[in-house]
Amino acid sequence: MHLYHGDIVYSENRETLKIFEDSYIAVENGLVEGIYPQIPDKFSGAEVTDYGRGLIIPAFSDLHVHASQFLQRGIGMDLLLNDWLNTYTFPQESHFADMDYAEPVYEAYVNDMIRHGTFHACIFATIHRPATNLLFKKLEEKGLRALVGKVNMDFQSPPYLCETTEESLRETEIFLEEHSGGTLVKPILTPRFAPTCSRELIWGLGKLGKKYKVGVQTHIVESRWEAAESLRLFPDCRSDSEIYEKAGLLGNGPSVFAHVIFPNEDDIRVMKEYDCTPVQCPDSTNNIIAGIMAVDRLQEKGLRVTLGCDIGGGQQNGIYRQCAASIKLSKLKEFYEPELGKTIDIANTFYMATKAGGEVFGNVGTFDPGFVFDALVIDNIEDEGHPMTPAQRLERFCYAGDDRNVTARYLNGTLL
Ligand code: GUN
Ligand code: FE
Repeated sequence: MHLYHGDIVYSENRETLKIFEDSYIAVENGLVEGIYPQIPDKFSGAEVTDYGRGLIIPAFSDLHVHASQFLQRGIGMDLLLNDWLNTYTFPQESHFADMDYAEPVYEAYVNDMIRHGTFHACIFATIHRPATNLLFKKLEEKGLRALVGKVNMDFQSPPYLCETTEESLRETEIFLEEHSGGTLVKPILTPRFAPTCSRELIWGLGKLGKKYKVGVQTHIVESRWEAAESLRLFPDCRSDSEIYEKAGLLGNGPSVFAHVIFPNEDDIRVMKEYDCTPVQCPDSTNNIIAGIMAVDRLQEKGLRVTLGCDIGGGQQNGIYRQCAASIKLSKLKEFYEPELGKTIDIANTFYMATKAGGEVFGNVGTFDPGFVFDALVIDNIEDEGHPMTPAQRLERFCYAGDDRNVTARYLNGTLL
């Protein structure tokens, strides 16, 4: 048993932060045992670590990121989605055919996510299986929780970043076989998006999803161009998400859909029916898409909306900054399209970043008893002589903090 003292904050739901000021969180075998205002008699001999006025919060979950685009952070932001992919992103990803190129990039990405307090993530690699395995192994070695995908693309893709359908399905099946025993890190099917995948490929992936009981991650209705292109290519489908439904890709594991900016009623139906996870990527949609997800509207429909940093569409790893960016976007949404959304607050976006996102990975994202103690200590937020409440400190961290404010990190209950 180990006790940690500080101001403990986590999410109950999208309205409510649970705040335990000046309290103790008891951790046994890496799991939360309980939270106490004083050290209970039964733990009088236990070791105590005192973080003073430090905030103790759950580590973040990033539901959408491209580790292979790590070197693109903050550059090439002058284009929108389709041109951005063709000009910057596809050439960048082609380098991952070379393991010597991939190794230091994936090492840097994984270290950076830990630095920013992201301990659980849904990650796109590239079409290259050997380099994807390298990323997989690095995440496993560090003890992180992740769903990792070898990307599939066999259509409307440049020759230097395109597979044949057979090759794509064969490599994916080998990838699934190689990781069938994965516990903390697991494989996930990753058709890039409908415009770069043939029907044969997507339907083939549906068969693999059923055979190996693995979920799927992709991008849906992320721009008007993408939504229209998907329906042009799959005219028998009523929505982008129905493509994956008809292919048998949904319901085999987590179904994680990035962006979901222009969903129609059929997308909503599919996402509800298969308990899909929509991911808002605020920085990315600002940078390369210029659309805004109707977060509260999707939440009102009962969907589990989460957050992603979407490097390299997004420019940095800190999910706490996505909490702030999501609030800013919700105001623009309300201002320009009041019928589609209303302003959301920090309790909501922190919930998206921790409890809602954590649900996809298991018992992480809150400090309820039995949850894994994946935790961060946040400090040096206040101005001298101007104390702030824990909720205010959390909000300021999300708006104006950085990794220097993360003064301790616990992964599976162990101090890093
Ligand atoms: N749609 C297809 N590929 C990508 C990608 O790499 N990033 C983003 N943001 N959207 C995509
Ligand atoms: Fe993306």
